[in-house]
Amino acid sequence: MSDAQELIPAAKPVIDEQEIEAAVRVLRSGRVVQGPEVAAFEEEFSELVDGRTCVAVNSGTSALHLMLMALGLGPGDEVIVPSFSFAASANAVRLVGADVVFADIDADTFCLDPAAVEAAITPRTAAIMPVHLYGHPAAMDRIMAIAEKHALAVVEDACQAHAAALNGTPVGAFGNGGTFSFYPTKNMHSLEGGMVSADAETARVLRLLRNQGMEQRYANEIVGANVRMTDVSAAIGRVQLTKLAGWTERRIANAAHLTEHITAPNVITPKAAEGVRHVYHQYTVRIRGDRDAAMARLTEAGIGNAVYYPTPIHRLKPYWDPDQKAGRTWDLPETERAAAEVVSLPVHPALTQPDLDRIVAAVNQLGEEL
Ligand SMILES: Cc1ncc(COP(=O)(O)O)c(C=O)c1O
Repeated sequence: MSDAQELIPAAKPVIDEQEIEAAVRVLRSGRVVQGPEVAAFEEEFSELVDGRTCVAVNSGTSALHLMLMALGLGPGDEVIVPSFSFAASANAVRLVGADVVFADIDADTFCLDPAAVEAAITPRTAAIMPVHLYGHPAAMDRIMAIAEKHALAVVEDACQAHAAALNGTPVGAFGNGGTFSFYPTKNMHSLEGGMVSADAETARVLRLLRNQGMEQRYANEIVGANVRMTDVSAAIGRVQLTKLAGWTERRIANAAHLTEHITAPNVITPKAAEGVRHVYHQYTVRIRGDRDAAMARLTEAGIGNAVYYPTPIHRLKPYWDPDQKAGRTWDLPETERAAAEVVSLPVHPALTQPDLDRIVAAVNQLGEEL
């Protein structure tokens, strides 16, 4: 790689002077644990989810875990989850002692296929967890209809999809609860952090659960954990939230540019379903051919690239059940195919026009040789 071929990273978390100043202001104030910054962050974030009540926690995983606890899910319950996601989606189900039932994805959107969800329902099904993967909203209109028909709860894993929407409704405003992550590589961050959006009644339970079951100090009402967000994180999250709209526009514009100019026949660019606002947490193509060779050549050209996720969750050790002890086999052909084909390219808002040109040139050079 020459100097001109400096690496274009796959993701670029932002910690600018504004974020640093916000953190220092909180540190100097002496109010560093869940205090006024957290309350303000919750209030401001609720605008992203149609005014639903928001509860800040210390990670996206905690957000999922607490929401499942708030619904009272536990042993004997089944939750339908896509296997094509980050393990946190399924782990949250296991953490409350419920069983994960995997359903296949739609080939175009990489999100849960509603028909597969319906086919996976049993008398033990208690909830559905659609994941808005890569920033593309799952088919919430159809999933909510299925949930209603079968009286199931819905927990949206929106950890990758801040400000994504379907037919004008933002993700996190469809189900019983929406969950967001503020991990540094996400579309916005708070160093580490998470948020749950829910109705006011559920939000009260979530607040108890995140703080040892206490609303008033030492008057514990239920068994809870400590998954509080610090005020330092909230102050950083608030700064990032003011920039999210601009960053999202850039992600969408960058994705549109890549899709327009990538012409390599064996590289399938991502599609957005009708009515969808895809916020491109990832810009993920399918490689029809030798993916390892394609990735090596992109890396050689200084183009950051990564596979999310090379191993579907059902094939990870805690979930893999080749002897079918649980009496189930998972037939997830679209999940398996996606895991074997996908590669994510840089799409983050810090990309310049020369960066975009280099990405397009490198991808098109993959040509038909794959
Ligand atoms: C789809 C999905 N769900 C859940 C999580 C968990 O979020 P966190 O890393 O903040 O715990 C992540 C992010 O890492 C994610 O991508």
